[in-house]
Amino acid sequence: MNNLPLPPVIAIDGPSASGKGSVAERVAAYFGFHYLDSGAIYRLLAYAALRQHVDWSDAPALSTLASQLQIRFEHGEAWLQDEIVSTQIRSEQMGKGASEVAVHPAVRLALLQTQRNFRQAPGLVGDGRDIGSVIFPDARLKVFLTAAVETRAQRRYQQLTQRGEDADYALILADLQQRDWRDSQRTVAPLKQLPDAMLLDTTDKNIDEAVNIIITAYKKAAQID
Ligand code: DC
Repeated sequence: MNNLPLPPVIAIDGPSASGKGSVAERVAAYFGFHYLDSGAIYRLLAYAALRQHVDWSDAPALSTLASQLQIRFEHGEAWLQDEIVSTQIRSEQMGKGASEVAVHPAVRLALLQTQRNFRQAPGLVGDGRDIGSVIFPDARLKVFLTAAVETRAQRRYQQLTQRGEDADYALILADLQQRDWRDSQRTVAPLKQLPDAMLLDTTDKNIDEAVNIIITAYKKAAQID
């Protein structure tokens, strides 16, 4: 046992397509911190389940799979065992799958330590739904990053069309609304703004503005000049 203080954590939670990922990655790069994309872990589980014909509603089989999951992130790529699956897990289907597997308490428990292991010196920026509430309740700074659902749907639509993928705005909007509902209504670790979290609504803000607000807030919280 040592009594060294644990590395600091910045927790950025919020709904789907709020821009958490891009913002969190840039804040992490600014401070030289590690980055945890917890949604990617749920997406990897949904993808591994699909491949192994495990149903997204089968909690016992999913939690066994979750406890054996061999995943890693390297140079911006997500690996499942010895394969890069970054593109596959970013699909809308895996977003939906992640949201479905994430409702099971046993699955969340099986993935708890996997996420806590990302807390390494000199610090960590984690994004997800329960980073500030369950994974790192002692986070130095907690941010609830959100935007109007129509704005998030518009951003997702642009992202998909820029990648040359087919996209239907109305379908994206309906899917986001359904995911918001599932993520915030589940019994375990629902998405919600914590009383000790700073609200950051990016409906009228770009990424640079959001990143700067978080950097300033963290410097204040950590008393860095
Ligand atoms: O952030 P994302 O869109 O990649 O997350 C995909 C799904 O994973 C999301 O709809 C709910 C689930 N999730 C979760 O339950 N808890 C987290 N900390 C992160 C994601």
